[in-house]
Amino acid sequence: MKTLVVFYSRSGTTKRVAQEIAKALNADVDEVIDKKSRRGILGFLRAGYDATRGKTTEIEFEKDPSEYDFVIIGTSVWNGRVTPAIRTYLLQNKDKIKNAAFFCTCEGRAGKCLEQMEELLEKKPVLKKILMRKKLDEGIKELMEELET
Ligand SMILES: Cc1cc2nc3c(=O)[nH]c(=O)nc-3n(C[C@H](O)[C@H](O)[C@H](O)COP(=O)(O)O)c2cc1C
Repeated sequence: MKTLVVFYSRSGTTKRVAQEIAKALNADVDEVIDKKSRRGILGFLRAGYDATRGKTTEIEFEKDPSEYDFVIIGTSVWNGRVTPAIRTYLLQNKDKIKNAAFFCTCEGRAGKCLEQMEELLEKKPVLKKILMRKKLDEGIKELMEELET
């Protein structure tokens, strides 16, 4: 089975999870780049605002998800919502994704992030997982176990 792990990460947490999952599953990885700057105080404030407003953004990514049997998609949580980068990715690629699993990383309040991802994909994912930034190893282990059952 050909698997792709797609992620957006502003500060590296979601990236670490994506890379570990991909390594364990021998999957390809694709990082979604948000062309809008999310750096600094202004970037942070805009990030929360854009996520809350359900804004899309300009993104770049490399792999074609239609070439994969299974696509695992990860995002960080912004104001209890999906990031604009992953919102945009799902809107652009929903028809190309056959089977999906979702994960998000957060400090403890994932809000409606995973439900939003499901609505955007318009398909039920095989798995939805919340990982806490401070308990990342535990979360990755649980996610891998849940994927294998
Ligand atoms: C704009 C912004 C809003 C955030 N909102 C939330 C939130 O609502 N709930 C939460 O638990 N964490 C929130 N966080 C924290 C991140 O979701 C968390 O640190 C995440 O693991 C960061 O992932 P990354 O390093 O891949 O960007 C927020 C972070 C940012 C930058």
